[in-house]
Amino acid sequence: MTERPSALQVVNGIDLSGKVCVITGASSGLGRESARALAAAGAYVILAARNTDALAEAEGWVHAEVPHAQTSTVHLDLTSLDSVRAAAMAIHEVTPVVHVLMNNAGVMFTPFGRTHEGFEMQIGTNHFGHFELTRLLVPQLAAAEGARVVILSSGGHVMGDVDFDDPNWEHREYDKFVAYGAAKTANILHATEADRRLRSLGIRSYAVHPGTVATSLARYMSRTDFSQLRQLVATGSATRGEPTDGHLDFVMPEHGAATQVWAAVSPELADRGGVYLEDCAVNDAVAPHACDEQRAADFWTLSEQLCAQ
Ligand SMILES: NC(=O)c1ccc[n+]([C@@H]2O[C@H](COP(=O)([O-])OP(=O)(O)OC[C@H]3O[C@@H](n4cnc5c(N)ncnc54)[C@H](OP(=O)(O)O)[C@@H]3O)[C@@H](O)[C@H]2O)c1
Repeated sequence: MTERPSALQVVNGIDLSGKVCVITGASSGLGRESARALAAAGAYVILAARNTDALAEAEGWVHAEVPHAQTSTVHLDLTSLDSVRAAAMAIHEVTPVVHVLMNNAGVMFTPFGRTHEGFEMQIGTNHFGHFELTRLLVPQLAAAEGARVVILSSGGHVMGDVDFDDPNWEHREYDKFVAYGAAKTANILHATEADRRLRSLGIRSYAVHPGTVATSLARYMSRTDFSQLRQLVATGSATRGEPTDGHLDFVMPEHGAATQVWAAVSPELADRGGVYLEDCAVNDAVAPHACDEQRAADFWTLSEQLCAQ
């Protein structure tokens, strides 16, 4: 097996001076690691998340790790579109230009719940909140004349598809595994259509699977959930691959953040977009339901309608 690079190794030799990167969910895990790597490369990093104490702590950690870091923080709760709109305004007050928007925040396997607007919690947090944030930041992204939107998805997108007739689980019994799969499918559909619509503005979009990373994402998982997930992995239902022994191979966040940071900075992606990335490379083994261009276009329209209500 080839050694995975760390996020810091990915930015080695890359100069991001004068660039502005916004990272959602920067208060922990992959978001915090990405903030460290992008700041180390000289970017001005705006850390966004909902818990202001955790955000301040993460910002302090980035400065301790990278003494020359330039950062600021913005409060963002993706379960409220009012909060998303306030965050977009706050970002606008800090900068007229955004070079990288990393839609990283997410929740997984949450018990059934609804956001302020009534979206199911997983798709509401992981997709609809980010959809609205991205839409509001298009002027700043376009001003960069070469911006990237990096959207965290997951190999777990194979566990479920978006039900266009019932995206928010109003007419079905809730299944937290399928709902996470649907939310992560929504992320890939978003990246696919965002790239098609926004590339003429110089904005390219990418979906990322970071691998299986030891972070707090599993906070809602019980022992039974872990066994159930191992079972799904063993049968191939939680991966795109062949059935396996169900072993979950975790990497640490400093390595797990490598692909999303690579998506943000790699010169190899200069003329590409709308692709799914894994292990710092384009990976075309995406479930067909997640990368169909017509479905991506239809889902964009649906997301616009639902976020405008
Ligand atoms: N770890 C993995 O193995 C893995 C695998 C595939 C994909 N991913 C994806 O990677 C991304 C990052 O996850 P992670 O592993 O770094 O997990 P994590 O450590 O739990 O970080 C998630 C971040 O999202 C934030 N967040 C959650 N709900 C939010 C909301 N309503 N508004 C604003 N921020 C919110 C969290 O803040 P709080 O602490 O306040 O909740 C936290 O900062 C997620 O999109 C996840 O789906 C991870």
